[in-house]
Amino acid sequence: MCGIVGYIGEQQVAPLLIQGLKRLEYRGYDSAGIVVSKNGHLEVRKEAGKIAELEKLIQAEPVEGWYGIGHTRWATHGPPNTRNAHPHLSEKGDFAVVHNGIIENAGTLRKLLQERGHVFTSDTDTEVLVHLIEEVYTTGEGRATESLERAVETALTQIEGTYGIAVVSTRDPGKIVVARLGSPLLIGVGENGETFVASDAAAVIAHTRDVIYLNDGDMATITKGGYTVHRPKHGPVDRPINRVDWDLSEVERGGYDHFMLKEIMEQPETLRETMRGRLLEEEGGVKLGGLQGMDEELRQAQRVVILGCGTSWHSGVIGEYLLEDLARIPCEVEYASEFRYRRAVVEPGTIAIPISQSGETADTLWAMREAKQQGATTLGIVNAVGSTIPRETDAGVYLHAGPEIGVASTKAFTSQVVVLAMITVHLGRLRGTLTQSRGREIVRALKQLPEQVAEILKMDDEIKKLAEQYKDSKNFLYLGRGYNFPAALEGALKLKEISYIHAEGYPAAEMKHGPIALIDENMPVVVIAPKDAVYDKVRSNIDEVKARGGCIIAVVSQDDDELEKVVDHVIRIPRTHDALTPILASVPLQLLAYHIAVLRGANVDQPRNLAKSVTVE
Ligand code: F6R
Repeated sequence: MCGIVGYIGEQQVAPLLIQGLKRLEYRGYDSAGIVVSKNGHLEVRKEAGKIAELEKLIQAEPVEGWYGIGHTRWATHGPPNTRNAHPHLSEKGDFAVVHNGIIENAGTLRKLLQERGHVFTSDTDTEVLVHLIEEVYTTGEGRATESLERAVETALTQIEGTYGIAVVSTRDPGKIVVARLGSPLLIGVGENGETFVASDAAAVIAHTRDVIYLNDGDMATITKGGYTVHRPKHGPVDRPINRVDWDLSEVERGGYDHFMLKEIMEQPETLRETMRGRLLEEEGGVKLGGLQGMDEELRQAQRVVILGCGTSWHSGVIGEYLLEDLARIPCEVEYASEFRYRRAVVEPGTIAIPISQSGETADTLWAMREAKQQGATTLGIVNAVGSTIPRETDAGVYLHAGPEIGVASTKAFTSQVVVLAMITVHLGRLRGTLTQSRGREIVRALKQLPEQVAEILKMDDEIKKLAEQYKDSKNFLYLGRGYNFPAALEGALKLKEISYIHAEGYPAAEMKHGPIALIDENMPVVVIAPKDAVYDKVRSNIDEVKARGGCIIAVVSQDDDELEKVVDHVIRIPRTHDALTPILASVPLQLLAYHIAVLRGANVDQPRNLAKSVTVE
């Protein structure tokens, strides 16, 4: 989603802001801008399109100064054009604001401000805020005029919605004032008094690894030489400095054409990292540090509710199958965006598991808060260390998959499923529903996954050839059954989001209740059919498609020599435990989607209309 970066220190600020914005571009990218404080006035440069466009503008019209703020936008209010790009300036040009989030009462406030004579120059909700701050500062009953902090604080009391904001002003120069409610913000503590602010550590990691994550309701002032954090009406607060433990190389493409390809190819290593030190092969169990001290609660748990969106919801469906099949605990998976508003019943003894790569997805965060408020114990499965969800859950398990930059989630998905499998083993062993020998089977199979994924990745060229054959298809159907039904959903999502080909995932047997009507020779059907408990059933579904002239690409087990006689193409994957087949099956489908999208000339890392971390509801 939108990204914020700010800097105050000794260096020229514009290049630093551009560099930070480029690292945030993956979050949202329809326009961008910066404001720099220069000789007592604020200079704005903004441009529609990618950061490269803004960079060109700044080359043509340079700005100098030692502090400023920047923003990369993903449109919520108003089309993506220069006028609506941030920063937004107050009418007299004395105040500038960048904002992530949504101001829900923007319409009402805009009307009130217009009645008081304010003239608006954009369609955004954010502009309301800068008018309010200016008004409070200059005329606000004289109370807020003593500082920018007071003006921002007072203006924010009128705002309904979510925000991460950074504000600068010529009236109170030499500082950046920031505030957060529902949209992430952090302070980067640099050397020699340099200080950064950003919505994501990726923007500051080139300069510092020491970051302070702000909590909802926090405000902070950043000056040359330091920072202070305070809570309105409460006063100063101490927030710990955290060390970011990943490298700059992890947020760079490292020789790959796209982040997505890099992240697909990284999976043997990321899966190893997810499992490192956590598997107890002999005991047939796992050791999950983040769940320490929870044994009794997990033993007594009556039910699990998994919450997530998109790809994380798909891994959640696999989690539901795992937990019910192997740990025998009742489990439901819910779209986080539905859970919050449908007055769901959360019974005593419920464990709510929010799954999120970013740890910032607003729908998942609020669903988790709702479950927690209704008495559930919350246990997060998150990749981004220090993000909001893990800071608010009672316990959790990190993926340790490293930063995921490509908008289409790949390595996070496979690591999520591995974590769900490990949680299943943990619960099953604790509750006595999974024997040691069955636990051992799963742990052994988990251990083999990195090697097996590496083997699948060697088929890249073969899958590329397949992509060439199918790149012009208008529609795709993905079918799977049992553990591989969610893998079919995920395969279809990968294809549609990056190639813009319409694709649907379906339970293989459900197809005959409707979608079978779509099948003809122009409809490629991807069927996930490893040799698992439902192999024979899926085989019949394949025959049904073939009987109607459908063209089938089947993901099959390495030793399957039956299906290749029936289908049009086979993609072979190694044998594993039934419950882990969706991990192996999803890897070639990621590659298929990737190559089709590249061949169609789509921008796979930054697909249209999408943002990496969706921090608005
Ligand atoms: C799809 C994709 C999205 C995310 C969804 C949730 O490739 O990336 O569907 O999975 O927006 O995001 P997180 O996992 O960050 O909560």
